[in-house]
Amino acid sequence: MSNDNQNLSVAVLGAAGYVGGELLRVLTTHPNVGEIVATSRSNPGAPWGAVHPALAYERARTFSDASPVEAAQGADVVFLALGHGESSSVMPEILATEPRLVIDLGADFRLSNEADYKTHYGDHPHFDLCETFVYGLPEARRSQIKSATRIANPGCMATASELTLLPLAAAKILPERSTVFAVTGSSGAGAKLRHTTHHPYRAANMFNYKPLAHQHEAEINRLLGEVAGRSNTTRMIAHSGPLVRGIHATAHIVCDKTRAVNVPELYKTYYDAEPFTHVLDAPPALSSSSGVNHAYLHVTQKGDEVLVTCVIDNLMKGAAGQAVQNMNIALGLPETAGLTAAGFFPY
Ligand SMILES: NC(=O)c1ccc[n+]([C@@H]2O[C@H](COP(=O)([O-])OP(=O)(O)OC[C@H]3O[C@@H](n4cnc5c(N)ncnc54)[C@H](OP(=O)(O)O)[C@@H]3O)[C@@H](O)[C@H]2O)c1
Repeated sequence: MSNDNQNLSVAVLGAAGYVGGELLRVLTTHPNVGEIVATSRSNPGAPWGAVHPALAYERARTFSDASPVEAAQGADVVFLALGHGESSSVMPEILATEPRLVIDLGADFRLSNEADYKTHYGDHPHFDLCETFVYGLPEARRSQIKSATRIANPGCMATASELTLLPLAAAKILPERSTVFAVTGSSGAGAKLRHTTHHPYRAANMFNYKPLAHQHEAEINRLLGEVAGRSNTTRMIAHSGPLVRGIHATAHIVCDKTRAVNVPELYKTYYDAEPFTHVLDAPPALSSSSGVNHAYLHVTQKGDEVLVTCVIDNLMKGAAGQAVQNMNIALGLPETAGLTAAGFFPY
């Protein structure tokens, strides 16, 4: 269905967080979004701008203290941008309100294997619901998203990693074991202050975290394995860098099967029709993705070696922007609606 005249009522749960704030920024300029209920337990009644300075011009908009279920009542679309594990506990009640579409930006519904979930995230109160969610990476799952009513939005590091390897997996020339080296900014850890996101610790620092155990590997391996049609082991070597926004991911592949293929052309063809994923002729700068839903890639090939770089904004293509892209696809709206603003440089 294509229906550009929709006027959607939207609920954003966890709207005082970094992802929630980014959702508000995008949704307020979306041509098909009307009412927005933005919940925050810690800031009820406060103007959005008191928490999100970039929204200070929205002087009449305030946070609601509605419970997740109260906020979902009557909403066409419910976005959950809650802390880890919170979505799964409230999801059955939210689904009972029968919104047209639910998009969870947490990790609660991204996996199909309960043991994997337990390893990385602990117990899940409603794991049986996971199979009813479509994994929301449009570049891999657009046809399923079109008819979805429940979407599990991918993780930010997962999105960047998957985009670096997806065309190789689809062409069945991704080796079973691969590695992505990724650097992320401090906003990836959320608004709550932690030692590792405290400015004096982070501003001029860089360090590896969760070595050989990053939780996003589970969803990366699920998706790439399904696309490749066999099991997949991608290591995502995660680093925290002296950035606020953005992910810079680099995949290095050594595989005999790539010798016979023009891999840069393979990527250009695979992503050619994508409105938000672009293969450039030179390595992308991280700043090109800041504040926008675009992912920029570059591919180099030498013999059996392939090097792929991808940059995204963790809060946009890695979270809120991709969630709105998914909403547009699922509700038959133009895929780029609300996501057409240009980025900025210098910043
Ligand atoms: N940051 C990123 O780059 C990124 C990217 C992709 C996905 N994600 C995922 O998106 C979700 C939100 O991330 P974030 O970075 O925005 O985190 P955040 O800044 O910590 O915000 C989460 C918000 O959720 C609210 N909240 C927490 N527990 C709640 C509960 N039990 N009931 C109701 N509200 C609750 C809190 O607001 P109140 O206390 O005011 O209600 C908090 O501001 C997480 O699941 C995260 O893994 C984050």
